Amino acid sequence: MKNIVVIGAGTMGNGIAHTFAQSGFKVNLVDVSEEALQKGISTISKNLDRIIAKGNLSEEQKAETLGNITSFTELSEACGNADLIVEAATENQDLKLKIFKQMDELAPENCILATNTSSISITKIAAATKRPEKVIGMHFMNPVPIMKLVEIIKGYSTSKETFDAIFEMSKTLGKVPVEVNDYPGFVANRILMPMINEAIETLYNGVAGVEEIDTVMKLGMAHPMGPLQLADFIGLDVCLAILNVMYDGFKNPKYAPNPLLVNMVTAGKMGVKSGEGFYDYSETKKAEKVARMFQR
Ligand SMILES: NC(=O)c1ccc[n+]([C@@H]2O[C@H](COP(=O)([O-])OP(=O)(O)OC[C@H]3O[C@@H](n4cnc5c(N)ncnc54)[C@H](O)[C@@H]3O)[C@@H](O)[C@H]2O)c1
Repeated sequence: MKNIVVIGAGTMGNGIAHTFAQSGFKVNLVDVSEEALQKGISTISKNLDRIIAKGNLSEEQKAETLGNITSFTELSEACGNADLIVEAATENQDLKLKIFKQMDELAPENCILATNTSSISITKIAAATKRPEKVIGMHFMNPVPIMKLVEIIKGYSTSKETFDAIFEMSKTLGKVPVEVNDYPGFVANRILMPMINEAIETLYNGVAGVEEIDTVMKLGMAHPMGPLQLADFIGLDVCLAILNVMYDGFKNPKYAPNPLLVNMVTAGKMGVKSGEGFYDYSETKKAEKVARMFQR
């Protein structure tokens, strides 16, 4: 596999494009929004600078990495010679089904179609295509260039050949792949989201404040980041979407999103990406927090 297409240039898409490009792959980065593409490329450039500052990359390697990425607003222009497409667009089932139908029509026959979805059924996404055996979940963690884990999720029809190819390719990116079956939330979010939702419930019930809840979990449980700050980094809209998928998928009230989370998303408070969530992310504060994450 040489030619990779990444769909979506947001929080995850730019990290995925960065990671493939830094490992020498040619990446076509696609987003419907020209602004998101520009922001995505600028984020990649800043994150590469942070890696240079830590002494782990040269200026030449930065230039090569950026040179490996080409931006597109039209999927039809980006995926003619793709070996692998990784979809990282907004967490919305109807949108993903539409994109996969389009990808299936446009991509070469042998191209593997992967999704970075946090919770939506791989089997359902695969059913929107005529190549369900070549559809797979490739669930990277945020921030992608730093985090080692990739959950590799097999849909009902995913072939062994597709699974093996993606499992091995993840290792060439310096990641640690873990095999997971296709149930709502997979493993990572099945365990993480109820914790985040409970932290929000704790705040909502007035048991403690934002910083206090995060401090308890950081210092008491040795978590590198508190659950409320982590929710801000993930995106509160993404957390809400994942909880809703698990709530619908398991028909279990324990996954029902807390009303405070629903209200915050409705009010446009999405966390880091909107500038405000449980914490304030004015430009300088945001830069400091992101820099701290990259020092982990
Ligand atoms: N945020 C996280 O921590 C995290 C972690 C793992 C997985 N994910 C998953 O990754 C995916 C992306 O999440 P995100 O946090 O990067 O979201 P985001 O909101 O930051 O970015 C989504 C991007 O998709 C673009 N987009 C929407 N429709 C599109 C289309 N038809 N074609 C191309 N681009 C389109 C938007 O313009 C936006 O730039 C979701 O499925 C999410 O569940 C997120």
